[in-house]
Amino acid sequence: MFTQLRHKAMEILNSNKSLEQKQQEVCDYLQSTVPHYDWVGFYFKNGDKEELKLGPYAGESTDHTIIPFGKGICGQVAVSNQNFVVPDVKAQDNYIACSITVKAEIVVPLFVNGENIGQIDIDSNTPDPFTEEDERFLEFINKEIAQLIEKAAK
Ligand code: SME
Repeated sequence: MFTQLRHKAMEILNSNKSLEQKQQEVCDYLQSTVPHYDWVGFYFKNGDKEELKLGPYAGESTDHTIIPFGKGICGQVAVSNQNFVVPDVKAQDNYIACSITVKAEIVVPLFVNGENIGQIDIDSNTPDPFTEEDERFLEFINKEIAQLIEKAAK
């Protein structure tokens, strides 16, 4: 499954569209294609504030458009610079619930020139669905997006 997902994601990211449109299409594609990806979105550092701002996403709308660093799974990844795989969200104390149907979550940071500037966040209604393949795949997506951001800044 992931080989085909990489292939299609590359097609989207190499298309002739704005970066935001590409990110939106990646979210839409992953959310509609991967059975255990029920909500797919990007959060980015909000200017020079110590908070994350919701970017493109696919799935149910969320009230959590701003997340302070350190808060929830997303806010923890903003400061830890590490992937965070949550097999069971109920077992987490520092967790921000978006929907009662969510059972598990994975957040993978996005680095541009070595700096953690945001993340991809996936919510799943399936308990404990994420493997290392998901981590490698989401790291791949973020690296491709980072390259586009780096190129655009040149
Ligand atoms: N659950 C996240 C909040 C973002 S929503 O999943 C869209 C968290 O704990 O940071």
